[in-house]
Amino acid sequence: MAKTKTVYFCQNCGTQHLKWMGQCSTCKEWNTLVEEVVSKEEKSDWKIDKSPRKANTALKVKDIQIQNEKRFNAISNELNNVLGGGIVPGSVILLGGEPGIGKSTLMLQVALSMQHKVLYVSGEESQTQIKLRAERVQNLNEDCLILTETNTQKIFKAIQLEHPEILVIDSIQTLHTDYVESSAGSVSQIKETTTELIKFAKETGTPVLVIGHINKEGSIAGPKILEHMVDVVLQFEGDRNHTYRILRALKNRFGSTQELGIFEMRGGGLREVKNPSEILISKKEGDLSGTSISATLEGMRPLMIEVQALVSTAVYGTPQRSATGYHLKRLNMLLAVLEKRAGFRLGAKDVFLNITGGIQVDDPAIDLAVVVAVLSSNEDEPVPQNYAFAAEVGLAGEIRPVNRVEQRIAEAEKLGFEKIFISKFCKISQEAHTIEIVKIATIEDLLGLLF
Ligand code: TYD
Ligand code: MG
Repeated sequence: MAKTKTVYFCQNCGTQHLKWMGQCSTCKEWNTLVEEVVSKEEKSDWKIDKSPRKANTALKVKDIQIQNEKRFNAISNELNNVLGGGIVPGSVILLGGEPGIGKSTLMLQVALSMQHKVLYVSGEESQTQIKLRAERVQNLNEDCLILTETNTQKIFKAIQLEHPEILVIDSIQTLHTDYVESSAGSVSQIKETTTELIKFAKETGTPVLVIGHINKEGSIAGPKILEHMVDVVLQFEGDRNHTYRILRALKNRFGSTQELGIFEMRGGGLREVKNPSEILISKKEGDLSGTSISATLEGMRPLMIEVQALVSTAVYGTPQRSATGYHLKRLNMLLAVLEKRAGFRLGAKDVFLNITGGIQVDDPAIDLAVVVAVLSSNEDEPVPQNYAFAAEVGLAGEIRPVNRVEQRIAEAEKLGFEKIFISKFCKISQEAHTIEIVKIATIEDLLGLLF
């Protein structure tokens, strides 16, 4: 007979407490303790073994043998890049993202494109639903197995029967194990099922790809410890109303977190976008006022992004300010700089700013393009389409250098831009480039050259 006991789990950090408290003593969050039932049963398949073990011996780093380091090729180059060159055997990869962003689609496409035997376990959709989706995305891998199951012990039974080379779980929040009695998705279930999956991955060398839901704050639902436990945390993001999706590594034990993959959601599933800059710039006839192009970096990747601004006289008393894909506070700051340092009376104007393609840009190098787009709309004077901008704008109206300017210049040059405006303080010489590099120090310099 199993012994049951109840404990209190902090929903924020996952710490276990024996009695209820108003505040978690570990993470200091209030009202996060929830009672959950934990039953103590004895171990079975890939359940953590809590019995005292023989101590491991310490080895000299030069004596440690690297075994089995051959990575699984995920076919999708974008995914391979983000993972740092393929899926490492025995690794546990967690993929998070908003509902409907395409997590299940991405994982199914990976499963179907692999040259290995993959077991795709879904706790969210029926086999027929998955089959329908598989037909939509095509490239059917005959060896891909689909299982609808939420109980980890039953999943492990299926694994012992089928011996898959790769396991996909959709999603960790739907799994439950027999050893914990609380409902699926609770902190103790997530902790326990993840531990079992990690143990399975490490013991058998099978990579496990796990989908995780995110909560309303945008982090992966469940305890933070989940992200500590797994080897790789990927985030799939983008605007659901736009077709572009960005896959980023937030944590990667086997590679850099600087790489990112860009996908496009089509009727037939996700497609890799090899040359994002070309798509993000709209092709228009003639020059229009209020647009400018910035050479930004997303992770390690240079990306030319179009910025559009509309400045018009405010109809109502309070002028409206809105920014899509850019921080509104930062826009307000730039408008204040233009007002104070360059004498533009924007205080009484409505200003709308949009970054095309539904992308959220954090790179400060876009500042200069924002300023140019706003001024261009305000003056109703177009900026030539073959000019690019890459610099940060400071509070004193100074044009500041940004990191990896070389890479930005190279991308603009590759796409046929004629001029790129950067900060005067960048140590870049014109010689090696065919694109004309214009160095400016202040907003006044910019005005003199463009308007
Ligand atoms: P899904 O993978 O179910 O999202 P998640 O698992 O992250 O919740 O993706 C669902 C969305 O993707 C849905 O709104 C429809 C869209 N979609 C396409 O546009 N094309 C396709 O081929 C597929 C399979 C989905
Ligand atoms: Mg899904």
